[in-house]
Amino acid sequence: MNAQQDSAAGSDKDRVVIFDTTLRDGEQCPGASMTFEEKLEVAELLDTMGVDIIEAGFPIASVGDFESVAEIARRTKRAVIAGLARAIPGDIARAGEAVRHARRGRIHTFVSTSPIHLEHQMRKTQAEVLEIIAATVTQARNLVEDVEWSAMDATRTPLDYLARCIEVAIKAGATTINLPDTVGYATPDEYRAMFRTMRETVPNADKAIFSVHCHNDLGLAVANSLAGLEGGARQIECTINGIGERAGNAALEEVVMALSVRRDVLPYSTGIDARMLTRASRLVSAVTSFPVQYNKAIVGRNAFAHESGIHQDGMLKHNQTYEIMTPESVGVSKTSLVMGKHSGRAAFRDKLKAMGYELGENALNDAFTRFKDLADRKKVVYDEDIEALVDQGIAAAHD
Ligand code: KIV
Ligand code: ZN
Repeated sequence: MNAQQDSAAGSDKDRVVIFDTTLRDGEQCPGASMTFEEKLEVAELLDTMGVDIIEAGFPIASVGDFESVAEIARRTKRAVIAGLARAIPGDIARAGEAVRHARRGRIHTFVSTSPIHLEHQMRKTQAEVLEIIAATVTQARNLVEDVEWSAMDATRTPLDYLARCIEVAIKAGATTINLPDTVGYATPDEYRAMFRTMRETVPNADKAIFSVHCHNDLGLAVANSLAGLEGGARQIECTINGIGERAGNAALEEVVMALSVRRDVLPYSTGIDARMLTRASRLVSAVTSFPVQYNKAIVGRNAFAHESGIHQDGMLKHNQTYEIMTPESVGVSKTSLVMGKHSGRAAFRDKLKAMGYELGENALNDAFTRFKDLADRKKVVYDEDIEALVDQGIAAAHD
């Protein structure tokens, strides 16, 4: 670990560095582009919530990208600002220029290492790629102290060749080694084992922090990221709401809460203020116009909503019956007991009480029967509907 990472990580060996790439890999997904101002707003929130490293963009991609990375670098108070660069001298120089004004800047350079990419995309031999790694990491390291090197498509790369690439990158000065599951192909066991093998076999592996970067093509991005930690990685690359190429990246809010809720089996910590997760999710959803699915873990509209009678009854008796974290812990004001056809009498009574109605047993039964009738016809029964049916009952009793 270098000095910058050491302070970002609080020098605790189980402290996990959170590297957010919402503004780079997240923005790369079709339809998620953000304006200059929106990027600044997202970066400011990420910095305030305790993200350690913000990958602010891909400076060579466009003038706009360069300018937003440079401005985020100038303004950010705490986080390290990273700029992405292919293994091309012009890319690396441009990334170096963009992060120059950061209090702490990082160049993140990558090259493919898998046979399928080498043969069909890059048309380079393994030996040529090793030379490229040595030259580009050296160039980056001459510009900044903090250099991350990524082996694109690492999970489809033969382990012996991957180990040689990492050895060359560390020797040339890389301080973070990222092993992405670029196409979301790995399983947790494979991903964990890959990190373990690299940590154990590559000379000087302890000179760098190892990093996970997982895509969600098989819905395994978060599980793989956590498995990578067990294999020795200490940096997680992730995005708010899991946005990213194709099926997306590991969702920041999910990894953070998995580490917080299951500390008993995942003994790692982050510096994130989890109470800001919902706010961050809403901001990213608003600026990208990407809706958050209702049942999305942690930040979905239904993450703390209960409709069935059995669950509502349990929740009214004890909040841990059907919730493994409190809504407040992720910035949601309270649990909601949604009134629908599955709701029971206990939740209905509670709802009436909260709305200021104290009904006798007969009136309550009567209102509950009318509520069930209505709920059969409507997906969700709103407070106004309940008000109307209680008022109808009161009016009928006076006739
Ligand atoms: O998925 C990937 O391999 C990437 C690299 C650029 C790190 O996003
Ligand atoms: Zn990626």
